[in-house]
Amino acid sequence: MRDRRGFQTRAIHGGAVRDGLRAVTFPIYESSTFWYDTVAEGAALGADRGEGWYYTRWGNPTTRLFEERIALLEGGEDALATASGMAAITTAVLSTAPPGTHVVAPRAIYQATSELLRVVAPRLGIEVTFIDGMDVEAYERALRPVTRLLYIETPNNPLLQVGDIAAIVALARGAGAATIVDNTFASPFNQRPLELGADLVVHSATKYLGGHADVTAGVIVGSRERIAEAKRLFRILGPVLDPMAAWLLLRGLKTLGVRVERHNHNAMRLAQFLAGHPQVAVVHYPGLPSHPQHAVAARQMRGFGGMLSFEVRGGLDAGVRCVEALRTCLMAVSLGGVETLVAHPASTTSVGIPQAERERAGITDGLIRVSVGIEDVEDLIADFDQALRAAGAQG
Ligand SMILES: Cc1ncc(COP(=O)(O)O)c(C=O)c1O
Repeated sequence: MRDRRGFQTRAIHGGAVRDGLRAVTFPIYESSTFWYDTVAEGAALGADRGEGWYYTRWGNPTTRLFEERIALLEGGEDALATASGMAAITTAVLSTAPPGTHVVAPRAIYQATSELLRVVAPRLGIEVTFIDGMDVEAYERALRPVTRLLYIETPNNPLLQVGDIAAIVALARGAGAATIVDNTFASPFNQRPLELGADLVVHSATKYLGGHADVTAGVIVGSRERIAEAKRLFRILGPVLDPMAAWLLLRGLKTLGVRVERHNHNAMRLAQFLAGHPQVAVVHYPGLPSHPQHAVAARQMRGFGGMLSFEVRGGLDAGVRCVEALRTCLMAVSLGGVETLVAHPASTTSVGIPQAERERAGITDGLIRVSVGIEDVEDLIADFDQALRAAGAQG
């Protein structure tokens, strides 16, 4: 698929699927199945031959336009849309690492991905080694003759650590393994792992691609062959994206570049403000020169993204007081929408994890994760300023 136009132009016009009635906004083909005239035609469509549509688990015009468009934005040959980010990750991992093979993944990855690799993969005869950090040396030490997949999530959650995609890809190639990159936090506007040699990109499209916290979806992008392989498994597992959700994603993609530029800008400004605040012990943001992998991020990312985390001084109580004092920003899980969302993992998502284990994963008592939205940044700074004062006043 070749389209050399700019990112925003592709986000609005990219893809070859056309509507017969020439509707400017592509319609929602909310149909589970499509009729044919002859049995030969039906048989051909079922075997992925011929022009036309067959059954929505096979493909759907609205969904297909989304797949074509995101493939263009990520620089891939093809894409496969799924019903959630986890459906994309499960399908991508299982289609890349067959039984009897070995996978290397960092300890600090999205929790459900970690569970997929820790709980589900071994049941299917796939062995997994978890590494601390994301250094290429750590991946290398974990390699075995049967390693077939190096899994990467960069920037990761919740410390915004950055892995060197090109270096990990080079290691994988030498070892005969594939690489999958979860590009959810960065979005293709900021980072395009396929151009750095990665084999597959996965997304929780629930986040920046949709962009408005109104859709749950996922997508896999890569070469035609790898997507065909993933599609074979997908048609068995069946995590089909609803065409209405695909339509919401098409609408979201139209403003992806514009939104992400603003997310980048707001996050940088907020990170700088927090870094200078006496109530803040540390800020984790790849755009700050103090970030340990800032140089790698500057090399492989066009912008540093809308995600950051920081540690408020005063421990668990101060962390809770801070997030509960925010007025404009909302306390909620998820990320990537236009509204700023905050999470205090130690008191919510990670509350069941013993403190020592939690801290080993970087989730300290005062850690607050922020999905910086596209509001006026002065309002966000003022909100955090008053919340941090509230956190400190009673501490
Ligand atoms: C980095 C990352 N990957 C994958 C997922 C899973 O996506 P979904 O919730 O759409 O299944 C998430 C969800 O928060 C995520 O943050």
